[in-house]
Amino acid sequence: MADKKINLTLKVWRQRGPKEKGEFKTYEAKNVSTDESFLEMLDQVNENLVKKGEDPIVFDHDCREGICGSCGFMINGDAHGPQKSTTVCQLHMRAFKDGEVLTLEPWRATAFPIQKDLMVDRSALDRIVQSGGFITANTGSAQDANSILIPKTKADEAFESATCIGCGACVASCKNAAAHLFTSAKISHLALLPQGEVEAERRALRMVAQMDAEGFGACTSTGACSASCPKDISLTNIARMNREYLKASINRKEESGGGGDG
Ligand code: SF4
Ligand code: FES
Repeated sequence: MADKKINLTLKVWRQRGPKEKGEFKTYEAKNVSTDESFLEMLDQVNENLVKKGEDPIVFDHDCREGICGSCGFMINGDAHGPQKSTTVCQLHMRAFKDGEVLTLEPWRATAFPIQKDLMVDRSALDRIVQSGGFITANTGSAQDANSILIPKTKADEAFESATCIGCGACVASCKNAAAHLFTSAKISHLALLPQGEVEAERRALRMVAQMDAEGFGACTSTGACSASCPKDISLTNIARMNREYLKASINRKEESGGGGDG
């Protein structure tokens, strides 16, 4: 089927640097093929800006295949745009109508400082993972794959949690800028597997503490995070994180009479 061409008006947040004042600027995107991806459309707009000697619009991206978690911004108030379960790099222009006006804004959250235009610093999510999102394994030859038996349902649940790509859309969609969906997905995928059991308590305590230290907000269970998540990470992960955290807190208190996390 032949592609269709559409024209769009873009109102884009432009901000030269983290400490500069930002503002919306209007650009026309003309003759956009409906077969293009959203980022290809922005590439086209940027080529025209460069030809005119203007600064191109800065946005994060890497794989453009929906797997790396680098891309993401708000399109008319929706994280990653209007299409469910889709990253903005996988969003196609056929999702839009000729003549539409689209407002593009970066993720807005205190823990995600704006770097430039649509690009924010999401290293707070990396620091949450660094605080406990791993297992400790002795080095040596690899264990036979079938020597640790894992029920299929558990393996599937762990896999679903592990599909979180760390894009930050859940934070951007939450009115409190909470990172509970992200953190709980990272805690869950290890807590569900035998390899993750050994460090489960320490992991839950440290990752929740780091999430709070980074300045993310409180969870009020509106579900906006899961609804906007391109990987459909379920709210049951948050319930599991709360259980893991409670269990770890009680056990720590009983063991140490109120001592620290060690
Ligand atoms: S939970 Fe979903 S929205 Fe949040 S970081 Fe992971 S993939 Fe992105
Ligand atoms: S660029 Fe990798 S997920 Fe979009």
